[in-house]
Amino acid sequence: MSLRLGVNVDHIATIRNARGGTYPDPVRAALIAMEAGADGITAHLREDRRHIRDADMRRLKDEVPLKLNFEMAVTQEMLAIAMEIAPHACCLVPENRAEITTEGGLDVVAAGNRLPDFVARLKDNGTRVSLFVDPDLRQVEMARRVGAPVIELHTGRYCEVDGEAREAELARLVEAAQAAESLGIECHAGHGLTFDTVGPVAAIPNVAELNIGHFLVAEGVMIGFGPAVAHMKRLMLDARERS
Ligand code: PXP
Repeated sequence: MSLRLGVNVDHIATIRNARGGTYPDPVRAALIAMEAGADGITAHLREDRRHIRDADMRRLKDEVPLKLNFEMAVTQEMLAIAMEIAPHACCLVPENRAEITTEGGLDVVAAGNRLPDFVARLKDNGTRVSLFVDPDLRQVEMARRVGAPVIELHTGRYCEVDGEAREAELARLVEAAQAAESLGIECHAGHGLTFDTVGPVAAIPNVAELNIGHFLVAEGVMIGFGPAVAHMKRLMLDARERS
């Protein structure tokens, strides 16, 4: 099975929103990611719009020739927006206003009753639906029961811990990915992945896609900061020379 990279551009918008202007532009970042080999673009329209905004999601769909994965909470407001934008995929995530980032997977077992209709409406609109879940076999089994063709395994805990605890988390990811495949569910994974942690998750043969964002934005700043400073200096000195 091949492995796709979905690049999450949320935190390009976080930097933009810190000043309230128009740059850096998540659409431009998505096009750079595409040039660099990204297979898809992911963005999370949070209820509080702290990073990606409605207009960003529309532009990502219209201006970027890659498949868009729209992450969203299970709310009627988000359903209406996703039905209108009709992205390639929607990843349903839990959302808690006070959290810094998505802290855990969706509790499909607890949310069971609400989900079949929600998932069916998106599927009928032509969107591939995935559920962001912890690597827990009950959640994987429930995802199948509510009709989701895809799950995304939350790798946050695996990334946070070290040593034996990390090995144990990796084993849970491996087991959940195998269970998904045996149930006919496509398996994705993501959250918190870095250059140091991506290898063992990428090696899980049943995982078809990784979604990675925060680290790529952070690393992008580091790799790109020097050239940006050098370009600014060049512009300054050229202008002074011409004056
Ligand atoms: N997958 C899902 C479902 C997420 O909610 C997030 C964070 O928005 C990611 C992947 C990417 O996580 P990170 O930004 O930590 O790489």
